[in-house]
Amino acid sequence: MQKTFPFPISIGLAIVLACLASAPVARAAIENSECFGCHSDASLSRSETDGVSHMSEQLFIDEEKFSHSVHHNNGIGCVDCHADIKTLNYKAEVPHEKKLEPVNCTMCHAEESAAFKNSVHMKIRGKGITMNCSACHGYHYVTPQESQTVMERVNNGCAKCHNPYQSHDWLPQKNEHFAFVECVVCHVPEAPRHIHLTFFDLVTNKLYSGQEILKILGIAENEFMPMLDINKDGIINVDEFENLELMLRQKNVHAIFHAELVSEMHPIIHQVNRGTALRDCTACHSSDSPYFNAVTLVLTKDDGSVDHFQVDRAVLESFSLRHFYALGSTRIKLLDKIGFLLLAGGFSVVLGHLAVRIATIPLRRKKENESKQSSKQEEVSK
Ligand code: HEC
Ligand code: HEC
Ligand code: HEC
Ligand code: HEC
Ligand code: HEC
Ligand code: HEC
Ligand code: HEC
Repeated sequence: MQKTFPFPISIGLAIVLACLASAPVARAAIENSECFGCHSDASLSRSETDGVSHMSEQLFIDEEKFSHSVHHNNGIGCVDCHADIKTLNYKAEVPHEKKLEPVNCTMCHAEESAAFKNSVHMKIRGKGITMNCSACHGYHYVTPQESQTVMERVNNGCAKCHNPYQSHDWLPQKNEHFAFVECVVCHVPEAPRHIHLTFFDLVTNKLYSGQEILKILGIAENEFMPMLDINKDGIINVDEFENLELMLRQKNVHAIFHAELVSEMHPIIHQVNRGTALRDCTACHSSDSPYFNAVTLVLTKDDGSVDHFQVDRAVLESFSLRHFYALGSTRIKLLDKIGFLLLAGGFSVVLGHLAVRIATIPLRRKKENESKQSSKQEEVSK
């Protein structure tokens, strides 16, 4: 009788053989630990003297910080970026070329590079400024980009180099716009965008992190949507949204939803250009603005990454609105809809402002009269 391997074993064998065959190719890669053998030494540096000035360059990589980077967490090692190091030769003074090729972010981020090439930040090259990816992101310690709030996004990004208050004089309420609209929403109008809803604690005036919300609800992350989405259509509708509010209130949490207009994490956001930004008020301030079609509830995680849950746009028009109804007739309809969500703070500023103006009406009338009279007097005396 002929003996054959049972079917599964032969497949197993084939897999093992295939792995053996491909292993040297896939893992010829040098382990990070070898590089850290030298580069985790905090005193490793080199100095260059050109006779006039003396420069010292650190060659130390912080292993702890690197281990939290988005690259490390996605399995990218030293030689995936420093791809021209193929082997280490310990007999030499330095085990690799002293001068290595510049790391090419494009080899893994083609779409971002394409968008960036078509941006004012690339086009300024040749005018004495060269900006590359690292100018904004750094390189060894890149962390997840998506931040909880527009403020954080702006501070981590554009505000490092630009002060938007020095321009935009045509834009009323700069404070509000810069706080609630991410720069690239206007500056890259083709970027997909959505309304982000996060939980804002009325008592402490702080945003809740996703982890805090889950803890309050006593559930794990993967239980969040199944618990909320009762009709299982993948979207949190108005009823389901109000349920969530109720659940939180039962846990004694007095949260409202903080809304912001942000762009999606998408390569196109790198395509910032001169003179192409959005300034048409009605693009946002009209009740049928497409800018408010995509609404997502956001849960932030401890590692800085973020989970999104789709919410029915109708939520913007219903829930919690009662809170802010008072302003309804005096404001553009949509401002309201976002306004109600936007921060109790912003709201009370408006109210405060109104109150001050009303309270000072008699005073201002008096001033106007006085100035009219004094200008008349001036005319008379001429
Ligand atoms: C035996 C010690 C040692 C090991 C191991 C080592 N390096 Fe280096 N590395 C150095 C020294 C020393 C320099 C400075 C070279 C000089 O300019 O004299 C350097 C410089 C560099 C530079 C700067 C090169 C440039 O163009 O300016 C990079 C990048 C680098 N190493 C990456 C790595 C990576 C990645 C690994 C692991 C694959 C590694 N090194 C392993 C000692 C080491
Ligand atoms: C995401 C890509 C990336 C990874 C991963 C990476 N590097 Fe780098 N590294 C760079 C860039 C970019 C530079 C700046 C110089 C250049 O453009 O080549 C650099 C520069 C360096 C330098 C020169 C000193 C400095 O800080 O500018 C050393 C040394 C170095 N890397 C070592 C390492 C070691 C060791 C690892 C693994 C622990 C590593 N790199 C992982 C992108 C990377
Ligand atoms: C002018 C500053 C700037 C430069 C230069 C820049 N980025 Fe970004 N990048 C950002 C900002 C800001 C974000 C986060 C966007 C947000 O908050 O919506 C981002 C997000 C990203 C993301 C995550 C979003 C996505 O596309 O998936 C990647 C990846 C990225 N950048 C890679 C690159 C690469 C590669 C380069 C170089 C070709 C580069 N960036 C150059 C500012 C910059
Ligand atoms: C060898 C491939 C590779 C190289 C080279 C590389 N990256 Fe990445 N990068 C990745 C992977 C994988 C991720 C994680 C998945 C993702 O977000 O696309 C990532 C993610 C990112 C992110 C997004 C963080 C987020 O929000 O999730 C930024 C920003 C980024 N890289 C910047 C850079 C910069 C700047 C360089 C050049 C210094 C670079 N990368 C070089 C592979 C690479
Ligand atoms: C690392 C610094 C840096 C960062 C970060 C940065 N920029 Fe710039 N930006 C520049 C420089 C430099 C110029 C060119 C200025 C010039 O030509 O006068 C520029 C030009 C611009 C221009 C054109 C200005 C004009 O005169 O019309 C706009 C718009 C712009 N940036 C928007 C942004 C936005 C939006 C972000 C965030 C996504 C951002 N920038 C992040 C450095 C930066
Ligand atoms: C409501 C839309 C909107 C928002 C939000 C916005 N901008 Fe602008 N921005 C514009 C328009 C429109 C211009 C006019 C010129 C143009 O299209 O570049 C402009 C001009 C600029 C310029 C060129 C200024 C100059 O000197 O001419 C810079 C730099 C800039 N914005 C940066 C930013 C930054 C950084 C942010 C975020 C904090 C931001 N913008 C938010 C619409 C906006
Ligand atoms: C990219 C979308 C966008 C554009 C373009 C835009 N806005 Fe806004 N605007 C907002 C958001 C979001 C808020 C904050 C919502 C709120 O406070 O109700 C806001 C707030 C305001 C406020 C303050 C309302 C309040 O609650 O105090 C005024 C006034 C305003 N915008 C007027 C304008 C005018 C005038 C223009 C055109 C020159 C304009 N906006 C362009 C999105 C936009």
